[in-house]
Amino acid sequence: MDPTPTIYEQIVQQLPFGLLLLDADKTSRWHNQHIFQHLQLSPNTSILAETYVVLFHAVEGLFKVIHKQNPENFKPFRLFASRTEAGKYLNIWGKPLSDGILVITSDVTELKQLEHKNVEAMVEGQEQERIRLARELHDGVGPLMSAIQLKVDQSMGRENPVHSQEAAELNELIHTVSKEIRAVSHALIPGSLMDFGLSPALKGLCERMESPGLEITYYAPKSISRMEQNRELGVYRIAQELLHNAVKHARARHIHVQLSSDGTNLTLSVEDDGIGMEQLDPTGAGIGLRNVRYRTRALEGTFVLESQPGKGVFALIEIGLT
Ligand SMILES: Nc1ncnc2c1ncn2[C@@H]1O[C@H](COP(=O)(O)OP(=O)(O)O)[C@@H](O)[C@H]1O
Ligand SMILES: [Mg+2]
Repeated sequence: MDPTPTIYEQIVQQLPFGLLLLDADKTSRWHNQHIFQHLQLSPNTSILAETYVVLFHAVEGLFKVIHKQNPENFKPFRLFASRTEAGKYLNIWGKPLSDGILVITSDVTELKQLEHKNVEAMVEGQEQERIRLARELHDGVGPLMSAIQLKVDQSMGRENPVHSQEAAELNELIHTVSKEIRAVSHALIPGSLMDFGLSPALKGLCERMESPGLEITYYAPKSISRMEQNRELGVYRIAQELLHNAVKHARARHIHVQLSSDGTNLTLSVEDDGIGMEQLDPTGAGIGLRNVRYRTRALEGTFVLESQPGKGVFALIEIGLT
């Protein structure tokens, strides 16, 4: 047989796709080199039936989808951005052929990373905008309201009985508007965080989220040093999400939140005694945990989640103090 590859073989080897042709008995009939790169196997690996099991298990969802296939009647399938054990993301197609199935893989790791970066930038941008709005309200509109209040007080002091009723009403209105503004600015960024720092703000958060049948304890040493506002806000948002999850999903009776520091690093832990989680891979999780990961990464910290079904969830983040 002529060992020189045909022009078609050469073209196929050049395609930026991994290709793997499986027989009706789901073993390999043919593959190209890219499949090795995508699965990050050494090019000399000989693909045997056992290799497949290992190989397919190394890609999220792939083993399941192939295993389910009936060789009498292969069905097309598509997996979007499946994660490989080696940390790549692959789009995967299954195309039934007359007596087998062709598995096509395409590396979308760069796209996925770009997407992550965009979300990170968005989270960061939203936070900056919140800080800006809160400041505007607090420093801009707040003093204006005080000035108006003063004017009304003065005119009331002049005591014109015809106008005093109106002035009283006006006073009431100003009071209400001021309260509203404070509430909005607090929702954007907690005032206690701006004024007193992370620990008092977390304490307040824990108190607000407590309810009958759910005890939330908070512990922090007295001497937690202040950090830049962005960092404090980041940790506060993370605590907010973790606490919210424990309240919403865990069916816990007790949640313990703890802040500690060794002078270099700051550690936040949120622990509940609820139902726990089976699936811990944060990439597969909802937007909340993903944001916790982004935020921790933006703070150049680490995020650890530990849980077993029935044994509650323990979440820990650690960041540098500066
Ligand atoms: N403390 C917890 N206890 C039990 N399950 C949890 C806990 N935190 C998160 N989960 C599970 O992880 C999933 C993903 O959480 P998250 O990313 O915050 O998304 P969301 O809260 O919007 O559902 C939740 O839907 C829930 O099933
Ligand atoms: Mg959540």
